[in-house]
Amino acid sequence: MTIPILNDNPSDSRRIVLLMDLASTCDLRCIHCYRSVLLQRGANMTLDQIGVLEREVFPYIQNLSLSCAGEPLTRSNFREGLRAAKRAGVPFIRIQTNATYLKEEMSRFLIESGLDYMGVSLDAATKETYETIRRGGHWAEVIGNLRTFSRLRRESGETKPTVGLNFTLLTLNASDARDFIGLAAELGADLIGFSHLLLESWEAKQWSLRYDPNRMNDLLAELREESAKFDIPVHIPEDVSPLTELFEGPPREGVPSHSGRCAAAEEDWLFMMPNGDLFPCGNLQDQGPLGNVFETPFEELWFGDRNQTFRDEALNGCVRGCDSCKLFAPTRDLNREITYLAKRLTTRSAEAMDFGEVHAKRRVFHRPERSRTNA
Ligand SMILES: C[S@@+](CC[C@H](N)C(=O)[O-])C[C@H]1O[C@@H](n2cnc3c(N)ncnc32)[C@H](O)[C@@H]1O
Ligand code: SF4
Repeated sequence: MTIPILNDNPSDSRRIVLLMDLASTCDLRCIHCYRSVLLQRGANMTLDQIGVLEREVFPYIQNLSLSCAGEPLTRSNFREGLRAAKRAGVPFIRIQTNATYLKEEMSRFLIESGLDYMGVSLDAATKETYETIRRGGHWAEVIGNLRTFSRLRRESGETKPTVGLNFTLLTLNASDARDFIGLAAELGADLIGFSHLLLESWEAKQWSLRYDPNRMNDLLAELREESAKFDIPVHIPEDVSPLTELFEGPPREGVPSHSGRCAAAEEDWLFMMPNGDLFPCGNLQDQGPLGNVFETPFEELWFGDRNQTFRDEALNGCVRGCDSCKLFAPTRDLNREITYLAKRLTTRSAEAMDFGEVHAKRRVFHRPERSRTNA
């Protein structure tokens, strides 16, 4: 059985990029993460459900993120999820982790299992900064885990998983950013990535460098200079513009404000919650799921009208339901404030999202300060 193709080579049945989590939980409460504002409804995939993925979903996946919004290494179902994906022959499998549970045995498992890529979020080069941002994490423990992993991989003679170390740029860690490059190289990183902060609450604005473009661009220039000293690819965002188009309120009903490129359609993304709810993209959760993979055969969901219509329209430039892409910002969006604001802050429809317990400071779509000066 092959999945007919919507927009590319018809002989290729394994083409979907699936972003998913096996569980909704995390052991940390990072200051900038959406988890500091919302708690997801608890979900943990059972081994039977992982079996369904192995038989019905993974055979169609080209590129799998086994974690994106939660922490994978804390849960007992993680090993079976990775094994199932390997048995189903998924060609590329990655995880994103905070590495607090990257103990020696787990490191050996990841190296031996053939995981392709492991992204680790550190956001700091010092204990003080790390423990301020990554609340609940212990610097010495995480750095020790990474050193052990690096040694074990070297001793095994394997080059995989490729290790990418990440740093989200904040006012709180700006003074660590330059030193992070040398530290990451010393820890055995194959790639280093800096990225902008997405505001998960209006309160998080205090940590954004985006509103001080001179400071941000000076820092980016320093990072470019430092990265030239190392023989490791370093992703550094482009300079930000001094003129930001500020968000002025939710878009009019029915008017998609994102009408540009859409990686979810171009690369056939799917996003799956740990309860099996399937979405055409992680940025469209407020639109409701296409369905649930544990209730409806995967092919019916992929070929269902909603998925087909979304991809057809998005490939033609109209991305219904997106206020602005958070996952793949086209260049022209980088100077719009809405690109950096979590969707929950900017749309009315996001209010209907079915989260579990919600922390006290739940989203508001009104700006708290209407008369800010443009930076
Ligand atoms: C939500 S975490 C889940 C995976 C894992 N727990 C980790 O921390 O890497 C995925 C990535 O999102 C990043 N992240 C969290 N909150 C963010 C924000 N407000 N803006 C930009 N990136 C953020 C994290 O640093 C991490 O690299
Ligand atoms: S470790 Fe990852 S998922 Fe957990 S709170 Fe931090 S950024 Fe969020």
